[in-house]
Amino acid sequence: MTAPGIKTAPTAFDDSFARCITDGLSRTPKEIACKYFYDAEGSALFDAICALPEYYQTRTEVALLRRHAGEIAALIGAEAEIVEFGAGALRKVRILLDALERPCGYTPIDISGAYLRDVVRRLAADYPKLTLRPMVADFTMPLHVPAMAGAARRGGFFPGSTIGNFRPDAAMALLRRMRDMLDGGGLLIGVDLVKDPALLHAAYNDAAGVTAAFNKNLLARANRELDADFDLDAFANYAPYNPTAQRIEMYLVSLKRQSVQLSGRTVEFATGEAVHTEDSHKYSIESFREIAARAGFLPRAVWTDESRLFSIHWLESR
Ligand SMILES: C[S@@+](CC[C@H](N)C(=O)[O-])C[C@H]1O[C@@H](n2cnc3c(N)ncnc32)[C@H](O)[C@@H]1O
Repeated sequence: MTAPGIKTAPTAFDDSFARCITDGLSRTPKEIACKYFYDAEGSALFDAICALPEYYQTRTEVALLRRHAGEIAALIGAEAEIVEFGAGALRKVRILLDALERPCGYTPIDISGAYLRDVVRRLAADYPKLTLRPMVADFTMPLHVPAMAGAARRGGFFPGSTIGNFRPDAAMALLRRMRDMLDGGGLLIGVDLVKDPALLHAAYNDAAGVTAAFNKNLLARANRELDADFDLDAFANYAPYNPTAQRIEMYLVSLKRQSVQLSGRTVEFATGEAVHTEDSHKYSIESFREIAARAGFLPRAVWTDESRLFSIHWLESR
């Protein structure tokens, strides 16, 4: 086993949460980038979301991966290095690793450093022969992932419909950069589909309130890291589906007029004022293939479930 020493990308993002939140809360309308949901607490909350009855995405994607693992493994090819973008709990990749022919290694990339360290330790115990090369990095920044010795090919893996967090033009630009990083290899990507708005609404407004806690983790994280004094009960989670833009929009809405201290500054909120925290775009199979093609990929296989809730695409580099 190669010891999974964690590489932190040279792009410094440690103080970027402070910059993003102070800038974002001084704008009109206010906003905070969704990548800052993910510190150790946020990653654990996302993991809890994945197990919710309303959150069909994870179980549908996992079932698709299991059902088509053999076919997917054949497309990725033998002795491949898997590079996963936004790797999270490292659960879905196990399905690939178990199906692949002699996988050469695995490079999970995630912004949530402490959480990544933890899950990599558990994966290393279960796959003692696999070369692991975890990277704490922001995949929206320029990122060099050096070739792994002995790998016949690189297979990108981007599950969880994280691509939906980007507006379509930004999604296209990100896919283009990922294609460059994959050195001629393909990308296996999970994409959530347009569907009955009621199902979408339920998935982001769960009865147990876990998604609300996840959204409010941005404020809790500011309290932990930036000496802020957000009162979490003074903000509401609001996550409507916008059917024209075909996306869930997440907001934190101030329930009263209030002043909050943040890194030595005062931020004012009016009653009902919203902070935009995330978009989750939904695609049709055709509209996503179109974006992938504009990014320079050749969309090849696509798998979906009987109810067309979710899709997994295999995109080849041209
Ligand atoms: C929606 S979750 C998906 C997690 C996992 N891939 C899955 O399918 O369940 C998004 C993941 O991407 C990571 N992430 C979000 N933005 C990122 C960024 N800009 N750079 C690196 N990782 C990021 C988060 O920490 C989180 O683990």
